Amino acid sequence: EAAIPFHGSRQAGVTVPQQPATHLLAFDLPQTSAAADRQTLRGVLGALTRTLATAASDAPPDPRLQGGGTTRLSSLVGVGPALATRLGLDVPAELAELPPFPGDRLDPARGGGDLLVQLCAADRWTLTVAAELAGTAAHTAGAAPRWSQSGFLPRTAPGTTPRNLFGFKDGTANPDDAAAEQWVWGPPGAHRNGTVLVYRRIRMDVAGFAALPEDQRDRVIGRRAGDGVPLTGTAEHDDPDIYAKNPDGSYVIPATAHVRLTSPRLDGGARMLRRSYSYDDGPTDRGLLFCAFMRDPAQFTRVQNRLAGRDALMPFLTHQASAVAYVLPGAAPGGTLGDRLWT
Ligand code: HEM
Repeated sequence: EAAIPFHGSRQAGVTVPQQPATHLLAFDLPQTSAAADRQTLRGVLGALTRTLATAASDAPPDPRLQGGGTTRLSSLVGVGPALATRLGLDVPAELAELPPFPGDRLDPARGGGDLLVQLCAADRWTLTVAAELAGTAAHTAGAAPRWSQSGFLPRTAPGTTPRNLFGFKDGTANPDDAAAEQWVWGPPGAHRNGTVLVYRRIRMDVAGFAALPEDQRDRVIGRRAGDGVPLTGTAEHDDPDIYAKNPDGSYVIPATAHVRLTSPRLDGGARMLRRSYSYDDGPTDRGLLFCAFMRDPAQFTRVQNRLAGRDALMPFLTHQASAVAYVLPGAAPGGTLGDRLWT
């Protein structure tokens, strides 16, 4: 199989079809003077660009990445809102931290960060080696590791939707290319090829949810677990019709169903590109690494506020960590990620 090209107008970590496994890494930069910190950031972005491009190439020199064909590594690098403000970087005006949400149990040691790197590949080994290489490169250039998190997907036939640990297909109603140009990628101008990643580490009460009767689980989501078909439709990719009613006047997709409360119809058509992974960090700590790309993080805030206190999924979820990053436009061959951050 061919390597996934590192260079391009947009970073491959967002544009390639979702891969089986991920590893997220976050770093902080020292806080000295703005001028010195800008210099450090330049150095770190240069080091990450070189390291990630080499690791993703046809023939990575590291022997640990040889022997199994091409690595099929993809990556993305983003900068956090606090760093952008501190250093006066040219990022979209919408880039901001998320507000607190009711029920949040966020561990700052597992979230936030000045720089975010998401690696994706077919296997855990490639990710571990690439994470080690990227971590060393960033650290040598002056960044301090903050947190890392690995995640995975079930085996899924190409072109079909992977499931999450509640057993539901997750990622069905994602924007098509035209909708993504409007809602996921930046507006025409300097940030056209950038996007914003919202990351939430959400612990799931898998046993508690599994104990619900099957028809109730389907009503919590508003789709059938077995085939992902909306309760108002006949095929997985039918649009959930949140206005359809039963003969008794109640909604077919219940008022508290997840796909009703997250429906773009309640949000002026706004859509985010969800590419979530599952995680397993021990018998009582399993869940979803919710990863969604959008033009403006307020898109997430609006949906999450609509979910809070209403979503039938909520009793089974705990949001444990959170991060926001401006995913930089891609690097041209010979270029460096983030070379347009400096105004
Ligand atoms: C749809 C599960 C958290 C936003 C869905 C679907 C499932 C699901 C099964 C239907 C299939 C699909 O279209 O992908 C979960 C689980 C979560 C979770 C298990 C937590 C562990 C969230 C959060 C948000 C969100 C935190 C945003 C604040 C959406 C959106 C859709 C969706 C926008 C598509 C709605 C549509 O266009 O029909 N989710 N979700 N989800 N979810 Fe979630």
